[in-house]
Amino acid sequence: MSQSTIESILQEKRLFDPPTEFAKSARIKSMAEYQQLYDRAAADPQAFWAELAAQELHWFKPWDTVLDWRPPFAKWFVGGKINLSYNCLDRHLTTWRRNKAALIWEGEPGDTRTLTYAQLHREVCQIANVLKDLGVKKGDRVGIYMPMIPEAAIAMLACARIGAPHTVVFGGFSAEALRDRLVDAQAKLVITADGGFRKDKTVPLKEAVDQALVNNGAPSVENVLVVERTRQTIHMEPGRDHWWHARQAEASADCPAEPMDSEDMLFILYTSGTTGKPKGVVHTTGGYNLYAHITLKWALDIQDTDVYWCTADVGWITGHSYIVYGPLSNGATSLMYEGAPRPSNPGCFWDVVEKYGVNIFYTAPTAIRAFIKMGEHLPKARDLSSLRLLGTVGEPINPEAWMWYHEVIGGGRCPIVDTWWQTETGGFMITPLPGAIATKPGSATRPFPGILADVVDLDGNSVADNEGGYLVIKHPWPSMMRTVYGDDDRFRRTYWEHIPPQEGQYFYFAGDGARRDEDGYFWVMGRIDDVLTVAGHRLGTMEIESALVSHPAVAEAAVVGRKDEVKGEDVFAFVTLEGSYTPNTELKEALKQHVVKEIGALARPGEIRFADALPKTRSGKIIRRFLRNLASGEELVGDASTMEDQSVLEKLREGA
Ligand code: WTA
Repeated sequence: MSQSTIESILQEKRLFDPPTEFAKSARIKSMAEYQQLYDRAAADPQAFWAELAAQELHWFKPWDTVLDWRPPFAKWFVGGKINLSYNCLDRHLTTWRRNKAALIWEGEPGDTRTLTYAQLHREVCQIANVLKDLGVKKGDRVGIYMPMIPEAAIAMLACARIGAPHTVVFGGFSAEALRDRLVDAQAKLVITADGGFRKDKTVPLKEAVDQALVNNGAPSVENVLVVERTRQTIHMEPGRDHWWHARQAEASADCPAEPMDSEDMLFILYTSGTTGKPKGVVHTTGGYNLYAHITLKWALDIQDTDVYWCTADVGWITGHSYIVYGPLSNGATSLMYEGAPRPSNPGCFWDVVEKYGVNIFYTAPTAIRAFIKMGEHLPKARDLSSLRLLGTVGEPINPEAWMWYHEVIGGGRCPIVDTWWQTETGGFMITPLPGAIATKPGSATRPFPGILADVVDLDGNSVADNEGGYLVIKHPWPSMMRTVYGDDDRFRRTYWEHIPPQEGQYFYFAGDGARRDEDGYFWVMGRIDDVLTVAGHRLGTMEIESALVSHPAVAEAAVVGRKDEVKGEDVFAFVTLEGSYTPNTELKEALKQHVVKEIGALARPGEIRFADALPKTRSGKIIRRFLRNLASGEELVGDASTMEDQSVLEKLREGA
């Protein structure tokens, strides 16, 4: 965040009470009720979670132990048998919800589909049988590389049904990035589509899968299941590739949900960290199911009459927890949209809200800032009166964007739920409960009941009110990540060792800086590590650096974030070249393209600056702080005397 944003947040004093009418019918209706839940959970977290797990979910067999905590490894509801697909589907079929819309889908070209719970259940069962026929067994990993179509949700639920952990790879990732993830997860099968529609173009997804698998690139993959979406010409490898619709037509719709151990792996989701290699965040079944379910119910206040729309992609954790699993576990109606605002249709989001009478709308600050730029005439030309609640996620929201969202989209009547959480946390950690907690623009407000959040120094001591520090969580929670897939050591190092445990007290280190104000409200300031948030997407600087140095022209690369009005941050790369290459615009373009090829368009550098050398300490470490200052055109902050070669900075500045 820039200095000016931090200052405006520090001075933010506005307070918005829950609207009386809203609070009356909300799930959690008052501050007293929130406080009571919070206190009860803090006093006895295990009893609190056990009670909810029994009340909210179906278990084939109850658990023996609520929590087995051998830091940093947690097991929840040990011995319990459960199936997430059962909780999302089967249990609703014996109720009036059987014929309720589970998914409403709007495709980018305007095609639409609604699936009731009964219909969704049938298709999930069929695809689960297709997976079994193709040799997928309980415990086998399945890669999912899909556009935003109902089949993406069906694929996930089918995996959950037979106990095959999925790893969904965002469709915007390149073939190389896909291959890395399939290899790390040792996926046995990949589910994809011929292509997807994205901003008036088609994305060749199947082609990317072919590239990822070429020359035995991911040797574990035996079969590829392909949904027909764009009808573009694709290659179908005999014996390996199968059409979804052909297989589905032959499959039985009878497929009982496999009773899974509560701690059986549910999915792996790759996310960026501080080292080059993305890490596979592992989530397990029972605890994740409970937490996605209850956070959606209480924080986004989902009710049976709501049409709920989360604009994320299923390739991210937000799509997992709050498009698919959370909503369906609650028996809610979840809207999926394939499109995105684009020059040919800048008002498409508001058309969707009007067309379906959306009641709850959940999006990201980067999208809100883009809407502001596009102009208020677009939302104002539509009827948005169905909206009753708004949500945001992904990065700190600046108070200006918050106010615009509140007034222009919410008509001043809808509470705004600013949810702080991470791929690793599985669900909302700090968030208003909108009928109970008054909101302040830019603050995610208070911890969810059962979450012991704190702001501490590097020794683990709580800092004083309004002093900056590190955001930590001090008690395990049901949907916490269990490990980094195949790398327990990395899990320990990344999250549990920054702050050494004290007398049996462990600190989950989120990687975010924060402060807590005098009212106990949390203000998340953003990442304190080498992770960027670009248009709401999480990217590791090292990941992009590795991509750059894999190009023959590049000797050394350093990537930092530069403030961007819409994206929040943009990728800024400093590059030194190998001897025989000369800096020029074609090479810049080629390097940007190279990053797109290695990672995907989401990581494309906004700017590349060539340099003779990078600023380094005497021990050879790149001084990123200076590069960040240079990228933003700011004065250098800090002491340059530790630098090995002082003239480097001058040259870098001249290169601007
Ligand atoms: C940031 C997305 C401020 C934060 C669900 C976190 C936020 C990272 C907020 C996780 C918020 C997410 N306010 N910052 N409401 N929500 N973040 O794993 O830096 O893609 O660590 O999960 O996004 O990103 P991830």
